[in-house]
Amino acid sequence: MSDPKVKVKRVLFFDSGVGGLSVFNAVKSINPDLEAYYLFDNECFPYGDKEDQFLIERVDTLIESATKQFDLSAIVVACNTASTVALPELRDNIKLPIVGVVPAIKPAAKLSHNKIIGLLATPGTIGRAYTQNLIHDFASDCKVIKVGNADLARVAEKRLTTGNVFESEIAKIVEPFTSLPKNERPDTVVLGCTHYPFVKDILEKLLPGVKLVDSGEAIGRRVKTVIQNSKYIEVEKVEHRSFYTGTLDNFNDRLKMVNQFGFKKLEYFNY
Ligand code: DGL
Repeated sequence: MSDPKVKVKRVLFFDSGVGGLSVFNAVKSINPDLEAYYLFDNECFPYGDKEDQFLIERVDTLIESATKQFDLSAIVVACNTASTVALPELRDNIKLPIVGVVPAIKPAAKLSHNKIIGLLATPGTIGRAYTQNLIHDFASDCKVIKVGNADLARVAEKRLTTGNVFESEIAKIVEPFTSLPKNERPDTVVLGCTHYPFVKDILEKLLPGVKLVDSGEAIGRRVKTVIQNSKYIEVEKVEHRSFYTGTLDNFNDRLKMVNQFGFKKLEYFNY
């Protein structure tokens, strides 16, 4: 007799690196029963300084390939840099519910008392029309200080895989905020890259009293709504799987890291 099947909602989380795991954590805490497939594009990490057209094609190629290889209920593009540029094309090509992650400008504008908010994100996200529109639509009463940096994602990536982190590197990155006179500093800073929650403790130390806002919880709620009407997948047993592109020079560290998030295996993704 074959094993009885279990019905699950299987969600693909996509990012350039470890950032998607911060989103997965937030989504899982609200949707504990979902099965996660986590795909990170190590081959092209970081996304933060890549051209728009390159990212549109790259993200489309990988996610389309994933939809052909796996039966999925929904997709979370767990990356601000990819979501702010690639969502329209993806939604045209893929007929599954897709949830994107974009900077939490709206909640930050509501939380801010002094109406000065900071946006810390990759140069790609900072420069996008999508981000300008978010600011225009939801934070027109605020002064928004934008800090685009391609290195902070690398620092977070390194911390999660090796445990090493250099506070002085991060202190330099947030200098555009800390070097301002006290009354001109933001009281709220948006973490506009999914890698940054992994260095949040250090940012809190460097920006004392500043509220740090990310999109994790909002994405968790959005996924809950979206998967209600998405298809069930029948499986023998629920098993989270993780996949990478390119070559990983620190495979064992990476494996240990994904294990901590509940992914037993780390597999090569052939697209
Ligand atoms: N985690 C990604 C984001 O949310 C980008 C990191 C990178 O590849 O530069 O923007």
